[in-house]
Amino acid sequence: MADDGANKANPGKQQAVEGSSNVPAASFDTDKLRQLIQQLEAQSLSRDPGASKLQREEAAEKVAVHEFWSTQPVPKSSEEVKDDGPLHPPLAPEQIPKDPYALPEGMEWCLIDIEVESEMKEFHDLLLNNYVEDADSMFRFNYSLEFLRWALLPPGFNKDWHVGVRSSSTKELIAFISGIPVDMMVRDKKIRMAEINFLCLHKDMRSQRMAPLLIKEVTRRVHLVGIFQAVYTVGRLLPKPVSTCRYFHRSLNPKKLMDTGFSQKLEGAQLAKTVSSLWLPTLSTTPGLRPMRKGDVGQVRKLLNRHLKTRYDVLPVFVTDAEIAHWFLPREGVVSTYVVDDAEAPGKLSDFISFYSLPSSVLKPVGGARGKGVVRKPQGVKPQPAYTSINAAYLFYYGTKTDYGVTLTEDEKQACGSQKKAKESVKNRENALIKSRLTELARDALISAKQAGFDVFNCLDMMDNSMFTRELKFGPGDGYLRYYFYNYRARTVSADKIGFVML
Ligand SMILES: CC(C)(COP(=O)(O)OP(=O)(O)OC[C@H]1O[C@@H](n2cnc3c(N)ncnc32)[C@H](O)[C@@H]1OP(=O)(O)O)[C@@H](O)C(=O)NCCC(=O)NCCS
Repeated sequence: MADDGANKANPGKQQAVEGSSNVPAASFDTDKLRQLIQQLEAQSLSRDPGASKLQREEAAEKVAVHEFWSTQPVPKSSEEVKDDGPLHPPLAPEQIPKDPYALPEGMEWCLIDIEVESEMKEFHDLLLNNYVEDADSMFRFNYSLEFLRWALLPPGFNKDWHVGVRSSSTKELIAFISGIPVDMMVRDKKIRMAEINFLCLHKDMRSQRMAPLLIKEVTRRVHLVGIFQAVYTVGRLLPKPVSTCRYFHRSLNPKKLMDTGFSQKLEGAQLAKTVSSLWLPTLSTTPGLRPMRKGDVGQVRKLLNRHLKTRYDVLPVFVTDAEIAHWFLPREGVVSTYVVDDAEAPGKLSDFISFYSLPSSVLKPVGGARGKGVVRKPQGVKPQPAYTSINAAYLFYYGTKTDYGVTLTEDEKQACGSQKKAKESVKNRENALIKSRLTELARDALISAKQAGFDVFNCLDMMDNSMFTRELKFGPGDGYLRYYFYNYRARTVSADKIGFVML
């Protein structure tokens, strides 16, 4: 998953195909010819060992055939999206099937009641044994029961969107997909969407075209309540991401990360140097930092909505205090939120930062006793249990007042020479303030995560995260996360303009 900064992105060689300019325009369909050339280029790049993994993947996607996604309202991978808007208008009630899609024989649809312990346990176990793994199958996400309740029961949740599939004979849960409602802003448009997550098929059920059925069924249920857009994230490349973000990792427990194979193993002086460079103090440094309490909810909502709206192009809108209370009030083992009491305005908050806990199971304990649960030590030394889990914290949202009310004096405006330059100058000052404040807040988040026993702190290069990842010694990982919309075509959004975190 991670390599603590040692990951090298190979820029690769892109070979241009020559010769097209001599073709007489009249005798060929030039659009088709261009397409053909692009396909040939993509094919050769997708096999070019000199190209980076990302380049090869993107090139392969240009020529990939998508039996399912080609039938869905999403832009084609080869399409250049030039404007934003739905691909099809809202469906009339009679256009929405009333009955669930037919499943293959031996399977039946079910709902998972997240509030019923036994059903939750089944869902949890399906994910525990079958959910997302890294490319080398060394780690698998291990969402806790409490986390799943948090993720799937926000205010306004719809229990019909917690869809499962059972074996008709054994009643075993073999697949799941879910949605929750979210008010999204995509640039200047506010759109009620379904946020689709936790698509999971039992390993024995793979490659049987079940995923399209699950996606169509949850879509039908979302359509039934008059919602026609969705947002989802996937590691792999499909038609067609609105944004591609990269994972970054900050080691808190470098030795364990190396022992589990999460980070590249270092020895001797190199190890000592790395460990010392990753050292963190035990106490946070921002004056007034404390855990969020109930009374902070309203102020956190204002801070967050304002920060998201002024900084990013894709963002959720937190309409009610109940949503903020749900997503941000600290929950043991799930989400931690710290607020900062404003020293200059008693009773007011100046900032907040939050992170959530998502451990990964270690699938192949490293250390000579794979699969047996112990790492063998030399004779006479008691065997140590192998690591079974990596405790990972993931950066959630933050907000700050630090950039409020930045203005230029009359002299400074004069010195700028034009209104455009003056605006730029304000923006630069705001960015500098935000960078310095977020670096402080994120450092404190690292400190409290380390004190709470987390091994690694992860984030994407989304939001303003790139302002502090380098300074705080995050390293690029080998994973990417792509953002997609269903039935909404949107011009590409750069990672730093994505303000929406998916769990
Ligand atoms: C994701 C998963 C459900 C896909 O199942 P599968 O058996 O590989 O795929 P199926 O044969 O059922 O369906 C294939 C189709 O689903 C699409 N698909 C696969 N994974 C998808 C995903 N995560 N999101 C959307 N579409 C997906 C494929 O692109 C393909 O459609 P196409 O022919 O148009 O390209 C399964 O691999 C799984 O449970 N993986 C572990 C959990 C996981 O990664 N979940 C996704 C989290 S984003």
